[in-house]
Amino acid sequence: MTDTELRVSKIEDGTVIDHIAGGQALNVLAILGIDGGSGEEVSVGMNVPSDRLGRKDIVKVEGRELSQNEVDVLSLIAPAATINIVREFEVVEKHRVTRPETVAGVLSCPNANCISTADEPIESRFDVLEEGVRCTYCETIVRESIAAHISAA
Ligand code: CTP
Repeated sequence: MTDTELRVSKIEDGTVIDHIAGGQALNVLAILGIDGGSGEEVSVGMNVPSDRLGRKDIVKVEGRELSQNEVDVLSLIAPAATINIVREFEVVEKHRVTRPETVAGVLSCPNANCISTADEPIESRFDVLEEGVRCTYCETIVRESIAAHISAA
């Protein structure tokens, strides 16, 4: 992309999450726990033209790298995303997200009677399906708005 086409400026150090499906950027921010309130320096592009996806969203976070848990949950809502680690303005690492078999400790089960939501020292665990995730304990399936079930990132 030429500089004249660059809509969101380059960052110095941090993470660029690229090739997010159009319209999912706000959910990506939710997964990362970014609501603007703690002063993070973040740039967001929504529905920008992309050769590969037609339209894509892009999120650039200064001064932060992502945990594996965060990347795992990201992969559920942005399966084509690319994570670029930037240092001193250069992309030093680039990888596609991969869907994990399970996600633990990140999503909370919507079933109030589930043992993972009771006052027990049991970490939530979901099996990742083609379409959505299934609680390992009570088998409740979450298909939509997975980002709304994030408990910790
Ligand atoms: N980027 C950035 N700040 C930098 C370097 C790169 O914000 N200092 C962004 C670019 O704007 C781009 C993404 O990080 O959205 C990946 O950069 P790069 O690998 O240079 O671009 P492409 O080769 O187009 O990436 P891909 O092949 O993954 O589409």
